[in-house]
Amino acid sequence: MKKRNNIITVAIDSPAAAGAGTQAKLIARHYNLFHLDTGRIYRIIGKLKIKYPKKFSYSLIKKKIKILKIKDLNNKNLLSDKVATSASIVAKDKKIRNIVHRFQQKCAYSPPTKYAGSVLDGRDIISVQVRDAMFKFFITASLETRAKRRFREYKSLNKKISFREVLKSLKNRDKSDRQRKHGPLKKTKDSILINTTKLSRKRCFEKIKAIMDRKLKS
Ligand code: C5P
Repeated sequence: MKKRNNIITVAIDSPAAAGAGTQAKLIARHYNLFHLDTGRIYRIIGKLKIKYPKKFSYSLIKKKIKILKIKDLNNKNLLSDKVATSASIVAKDKKIRNIVHRFQQKCAYSPPTKYAGSVLDGRDIISVQVRDAMFKFFITASLETRAKRRFREYKSLNKKISFREVLKSLKNRDKSDRQRKHGPLKKTKDSILINTTKLSRKRCFEKIKAIMDRKLKS
């Protein structure tokens, strides 16, 4: 893969429902960057495992990733708690992470030329995928706040799930994502911590924008 020169690269890691996806979208729009929500790829694989439990294999995953279109990542049926949980299970597998790695590298370092660069968000973006990113943000929020936000999101999508179930599921996913052997979620020393617990989307983006503009305009 040929890497594009002089592009802006933004790497974001965060636990689930901390607001990283929203901020990544705002960053992408403002700076004209290609956005990849890497969790969606694991969700697609997690969904594959639910749909084809017997046929589920590395070759099936490779085939799926090979024909993956960016619009497939926006499919609303990926947004259920069942799929999220399945995603966090398949995400523990090193071979699966390697398959996803190649797709992510292309998006990060060789985004379509109409974009000035890329912004990727996930769990191991700073620590593994885009270690030399120009900007590195670790976005977090309290478990309670994240659960409230995710619960609200599920409600708007008419998902039948209680607040307690959402809270429990996020807690389990946090544990699994932080403690797994390959690509665990962790805050690296070189990343900037953004705690969104008491910040509105707008305030949070203003904070990120101020940091980015300082460097881009210097
Ligand atoms: O971000 P999202 O909640 O959609 O991610 C679903 C799951 O995919 C996470 O709980 C995590 O286990 C996995 N994931 C990952 N590495 C990433 C992005 C997501 O392991 N870079």
